[in-house]
Amino acid sequence: MNMIRVQLGERSYPITLGTGILPALPGLAARLGIPRQIAVVTDTRVAALHVRRLSALLRKEGCEVLEIVIARGERQKSLACANRIITRLLESHYSRRSALFAFGGGVVGDVTGFVAATFRRGIPLVQVPTTLLAQVESSIGGKTAVNHPLSKNAIGAYHQPSLVFSDTEFLATLPKREIISGVGEILKYGMLDRGIFAYLDRHIAAILAGDPSALREIILRCNRVKAKLIQDDEREERAGGGRAVLNLGHTVGHALEDLSRYRLRHGEAVVLGLRWELRLALAAGLTDKADGALFDDLLGRVPYHPSIGFIPRDRLVERLVALGASGGFVVPRKIGKVIVARDIPPSLIRSVSRAFRP
Ligand SMILES: NC(=O)c1ccc[n+]([C@@H]2O[C@H](COP(=O)([O-])OP(=O)(O)OC[C@H]3O[C@@H](n4cnc5c(N)ncnc54)[C@H](O)[C@@H]3O)[C@@H](O)[C@H]2O)c1
Ligand SMILES: [Zn+2]
Repeated sequence: MNMIRVQLGERSYPITLGTGILPALPGLAARLGIPRQIAVVTDTRVAALHVRRLSALLRKEGCEVLEIVIARGERQKSLACANRIITRLLESHYSRRSALFAFGGGVVGDVTGFVAATFRRGIPLVQVPTTLLAQVESSIGGKTAVNHPLSKNAIGAYHQPSLVFSDTEFLATLPKREIISGVGEILKYGMLDRGIFAYLDRHIAAILAGDPSALREIILRCNRVKAKLIQDDEREERAGGGRAVLNLGHTVGHALEDLSRYRLRHGEAVVLGLRWELRLALAAGLTDKADGALFDDLLGRVPYHPSIGFIPRDRLVERLVALGASGGFVVPRKIGKVIVARDIPPSLIRSVSRAFRP
């Protein structure tokens, strides 16, 4: 079992990572002083596959467990869903001294985190991520949110978990599509860190094939990088760097997710976002050519080439021009160094974006 500590003063917490470690969760939660009145929030698929085991382990340790099962998919990241969860908590007389366990992927993690941040002005949260994307990325760092019809993640709060508990055994039941989606976030770390790039260069095929030891190693390496970024810039306040580097691939990614009406999964959109933004950065002369070619080769080895003709390209292009002027694009200078570029000319954004094919 690996343990990484996210050092944030009184909001510090451990990330625990291992394979087949679920039986250790109730004891660890008890040692951390997490309340024993627990609501486990999960979605229908994770409920069918795994929740019985988690609830039984918690009950064996003497915890009271309420299971709250939500539907699957990005649409559940809504105020309506958060409100339904809160209704169940109130009906069951849950209080400030209860805890929420988010048991599932990033959707469950984000909406449960949002409820934990707001119910009775905030209650303890434990993240038990079950997708590759959630174990690599979304369970760590305290960003919680629901979507507004006009904008993704528009309503949210920072609320750090008390514990992140990642058991990679859950990944064995993940569909292929969800592995690729998690790989989207993983590839981003390859651009942020030379060691991770080298590992991916050698092991990307094993990761895509769901090889358990390769998955565990890459999750561990990415978690270490993320923990450090969160420690240095918990609320994404450092201009031009800090935690914001995690938005690599996400300017285009979020636009694709939104304009596809969430038909692209988050991580899938990030795969395309990384390819797209790399092409933009190369065309703008911002990225070292040799490193750009290496990264492009790695991105090309991910078997994800969807047809995106159904996304209105003109609207997408104009959205990117607007985003380029406001927030800018997080682009790689070279492997291990990324910057925020706000001055890419609109004409270049337009020509690269019109020509882009996945
Ligand atoms: N808070 C953050 O910092 C952060 C970071 C990145 C992404 N996100 C958010 O995360 C969300 C995407 O998360 P996701 O990709 O995990 O999607 P998801 O939560 O929708 O899960 C994907 C699918 O996998 C299924 N599933 C989950 N675990 C499974 C398992 N072990 N076996 C079989 N099926 C399983 C789910 O039922 C679901 O259908 C997006 O909303 C994105 O915005 C948040
Ligand atoms: Zn992301």
